[in-house]
Amino acid sequence: MPEGSPAARGTTPVPSIQRCLRCGHTLPELDARSVCPQCGGLLELVHSPPELRGAALAESFRRSTSPSGVWRFGALVLPGSERDRVSFPEGNTPALESDRVRRWTGATWLRLKHEGLNPTGSFKDRGMAVGVTQALRIGARGVVCASTGNTGASLASYAARAGLPALVLVPAGRIAVGKLTQTMAYGARILAVRGDFDDCLRLVREASDELGLYLLNSVNPFRIEGQKTIVLELLEQLGWDPPDWLALPAGNLGNTAAFGAALREALAFGLIPRAPRLLAVQSSGAAPFAASFDDDFRTLKPVKACTIATAINIGNPASFERAVPAIRETRGIVRAVSDEEILDAKGEVDAAGIGCEPASAASVAGVRRLVHEGFISPGERVVAVLTGHVLKDPDIILSEAESRRGASRPSRPAEVEPTIAAVAAAARLS
Ligand code: F0G
Repeated sequence: MPEGSPAARGTTPVPSIQRCLRCGHTLPELDARSVCPQCGGLLELVHSPPELRGAALAESFRRSTSPSGVWRFGALVLPGSERDRVSFPEGNTPALESDRVRRWTGATWLRLKHEGLNPTGSFKDRGMAVGVTQALRIGARGVVCASTGNTGASLASYAARAGLPALVLVPAGRIAVGKLTQTMAYGARILAVRGDFDDCLRLVREASDELGLYLLNSVNPFRIEGQKTIVLELLEQLGWDPPDWLALPAGNLGNTAAFGAALREALAFGLIPRAPRLLAVQSSGAAPFAASFDDDFRTLKPVKACTIATAINIGNPASFERAVPAIRETRGIVRAVSDEEILDAKGEVDAAGIGCEPASAASVAGVRRLVHEGFISPGERVVAVLTGHVLKDPDIILSEAESRRGASRPSRPAEVEPTIAAVAAAARLS
């Protein structure tokens, strides 16, 4: 369907502005700055509302000819012509059922929205499709991000697709090998900073202007736009009948903010009658948001982060200001779970044949915790988002095979002689 044709009108908004969440200052849609020049606050995109509402808007998504699970929702994502759009395509991820994981969590109705099945193996591709598109629209000469691994891999891939050079700062020695090698393979320039993720983010925020590179961390509002489609696509898969709970792992809080924005818009435009409650889950070794929630969000106390879930090993979440309303407006909950609970959850998801990286399993661990605490009642409909692919972090699987007990322990290959007898002797399946 060509842009601008009458049938496409419901999905083609006019240009937006970027607005500071803190002081309300506005910037044009094509301004390259990633924070408010007046007060340093985070920016959000303000679109003109789509012409269609409710069922008609949902129908326009369904009839979109875009193969992308991001660009199909164009009316609620980003203006600009179809010609500009960078895509593989991405999205279109399944909401999986698993008896095993359902039993383990105690939630009787459970779906696992597997964002690890995106092109580079994480949900970051949805935001990067929009963010790198925006980089082209503003004529950026290159792009930059700080990353615990997935953002960098996704940026490197989408930048290569768009023909832009990419610079990625990672905390030295603290990112999973699958992510590091992926980012190398896609051809990004990688700097391993002797510090943590929070140092990397501080550096890119300070240096992006000076380097003349467009900043594509999730402080960038265009990233948030793309990530909203996780929720829109999920709601569509459920026939626009929202679940009771929507659980996700939380680190820098860009995704929590994106989920809040998507639900706000889905309500405002009549796509859903009510919002699910958000459950944002952190590791107890990196849980400033959970601590702040317990304090009714009065303060945010940055921490020195330390968790095996390297993707969410973040002590000073940049999107805090945006994530608080997402939790408040949905009567959401923020919880910290231990690394042990995260590894148990990963063991179940992996042994169910689905697989995910450690940080992703935090959402499943959080569901189990809330069922046990009585916040989630057994009959409620629950969706847990798996954010990254099992292959992202092979080291943790090898170390788990050595160290863990229990039904969900991965097992090392047994090396055998090349004889039938040896194979038969070693081939006991449980
Ligand atoms: N899950 C995975 C697999 C992630 O990679 C991340 C963040 C999160 C959850 C948390 O999302 O930061 O929006 O709250 N990874 C970033 C990165 C920080 O650099 O790849 P968030």
